[in-house]
Formats: sequence, C-alpha cells, structure tokens
Amino acid sequence: MQKFELTQEELKKMYGLDSVIKLSFNENPFGPSPRAIDAINRTVYSCNLYPDPKGRELKGKLSDLNGIEEENIILGNGADEILDLIARALLRDGDEAITAKPTFETFIVSSKNAGAEVIKPLLKDHRFDVDGIINSISERTRAIYICNPNNPTGTILKRDELDYLFEKIDNNVCVIFDEAYIDFVDDKEYVSGLEYFKKGHNATVVRTFSKAYGLAGLRAGYAIAAPSIIEAMERYKLLFNENCLAYAAACAALEDIKYKEMVVEENRRNKKLMYKGLDELGFEYIPSETNFVLINTLIDSGGAFEILAKNGIIIKPITVSEYNTWIRVTVGKQDDVLRFLDAMSKLGEYIDEKTGFKDGIRYIH
Ligand SMILES: Cc1ncc(COP(=O)(O)O)c(C=O)c1O
Repeated sequence: MQKFELTQEELKKMYGLDSVIKLSFNENPFGPSPRAIDAINRTVYSCNLYPDPKGRELKGKLSDLNGIEEENIILGNGADEILDLIARALLRDGDEAITAKPTFETFIVSSKNAGAEVIKPLLKDHRFDVDGIINSISERTRAIYICNPNNPTGTILKRDELDYLFEKIDNNVCVIFDEAYIDFVDDKEYVSGLEYFKKGHNATVVRTFSKAYGLAGLRAGYAIAAPSIIEAMERYKLLFNENCLAYAAACAALEDIKYKEMVVEENRRNKKLMYKGLDELGFEYIPSETNFVLINTLIDSGGAFEILAKNGIIIKPITVSEYNTWIRVTVGKQDDVLRFLDAMSKLGEYIDEKTGFKDGIRYIH
C-alpha cells in the first residue's frame, strides 16, 4: 500500500503522533447540517424499508432548485456513480472522449472501461485548454468531460470560453460538466453547464452532496441531462442505488441554505488565511475557486507528503509528471490551516537535513 493511502490512525501509530488531520479528500470540515443529521436520525428507524426507487421527493426539490423537469434528473450513489453511468450510457468500443490532464479521474477510468479512448490535452495556465480540446475532436468523439472548477487545480473555464467551445462543436458530442465544487465559486464570469443545457445544447451537469453539503460518507449525487441520456443511464443503474439515509439527508440539506452559506463563507475566510501564510512562506499556489488549493513545494510531491505526514498532516500529492512537485490541500477549519502552514514552514528543514540546500534553493530530488 502507498503511504498516502494510510488512514489517520495508521499514520498516528507509524509516526507516534497524538493527532493527524486529513486534508487530502476535499471533505467538508464542518460536517453535515444539523437538519441533515436530524433527518438521518429520524430515518434510522425505517431502515427496514427500501427507499423510493424513483427518488421523487429529492428529484422534486432538485427540479425546483435548478428550474428543470424531474425527467431531466437522475440520482446516484455519489457523483462517482453518476460519472460512471454517463460513460456507460454514452461510450462504446472505438469511441473517443476528451478531457484534460490533470483532472478528476473517475470519468477517464469509466470511459476506458466502456472501451473508449480518452484524449487528455495538458492544462494551459493550469486551466482546461479549450483550443486543445477543439483540436482533439475527431469523428469518433462522443463526449467532452469538463471539470469546472477543475480538481486538482481549482481553476475554472469562463462564460466566453464555454460559449466559444459550444460554437465549435457538433451537437452530437455531449459536454459533461462536473460541478462538484460549484458552491465555492466566487468568480463572476463562471457559468454553470446548466445554462447550456437549458439553451438546448448537448450538455450534462453532474453535482454532488459530498462537498458544500458535507455528506461525502453517505454518497449522494445527481445529474441533469436530456431524457434520452437519463434513459440510457437508467439502463445501467441499480434499482436502489441511493440508500434511505443519504436520500433523507440530501433532502434536508437542500432546505438548510443558511448552513451551506456558513460553510462557503468559512471556506472563503480560511482559504484567504492559507494564501496569506503561503505568500509569507514563499510558496507558489494556484488561486482556487474550490475548497482546496494546489501548491508547488518544489520538491517531489511524494517526499512532501512524507514530511507533512510526519507533522500530522495528510495531503494529496500530485503524481502527473508535469505537476509532480505539487500537492493538493483541502482548506479545512482555521486551526487546520494554521497547523498545515506550520508544517509547511518545516519543509525546508527536512529537505536540508536529507539532501542539503543548494544556495538556499529547494530542488527536486
Ligand atoms: C471533481 C469531482 N467530481 C466528483 C467527485 C466525486 O464526488 P462524490 O463523493 O459525490 O462521488 C469528486 C470527489 O472528490 C470530485 O472532486
């Protein structure tokens, strides 16, 4: 097993630490809304019953929230399952899908499992390269996956860039917008894929309850798509793919707007604190529209992982060759940020001890 797959408990034992904080999965450090917890507690007593296989209550709330019909919604066991269902529904042997490198991997893995070839133009200025995507289109292209904001860079494609993309592509190519982090976006030029869907473009939107709503462990996500795509996805979906607790919690979480606003505001504040600390320490980072930040440690990301783990912090090291000195760090609560910054300030010491500085400059070993 890779060290970065170890649990907090395992790392505590390994390094003799009292506490370890996990900033590697972009989880919500504030937990679910109290209303979601109440709904879970109430539902526990009816766990003997199957959930509604049609998910009507949740679909009703999501259709009101997004201004769409219920027939345009499919519910899933997290956005992960939704992305897998989209790949199965859209792609066959010999088809091509286009995305970027690096981006969130689920759709890539599922597309390959469906027999498709995946083309991944490198990000440009840490953002999806729209021209790179357009130039990669062939007659075999069936899908374009855009993670907006992108994981792991936290960057977005803006309205004018997406308008341009839709001008250039045929309507037989489905553009899949993964909007797992949409709630954290501040940039006014951001636009949801939902707008393109509503205008009649071949666009599908994927959302999750794992991030701003804090329900990652329960597994709840959904897609908004044309009925033909929903129907194709439903052919692969298990009847009871979403469990009753996730379902009840998601319904309740949607009602608690104030709680989600608190989460987003805290994230904004703590992200600023992280930027300030990183500026003071002299680390390069990519300004992020999400609840995580990508940071250049200038040393091998696996080495950085190890040093931070010894200091009680678990982060995600990026292994893609063009980003192999970068780490992705969840923003966390204020105390988490301060502890992370303290550990980052020690990065230099460890490298010095192990390999020595060259003229005060850290380098990739
Ligand atoms: C961009 C992106 N999409 C989808 C997911 C999967 O979300 P879920 O927990 O709903 O499966 C994640 C999880 O980190 C993500 O970062």
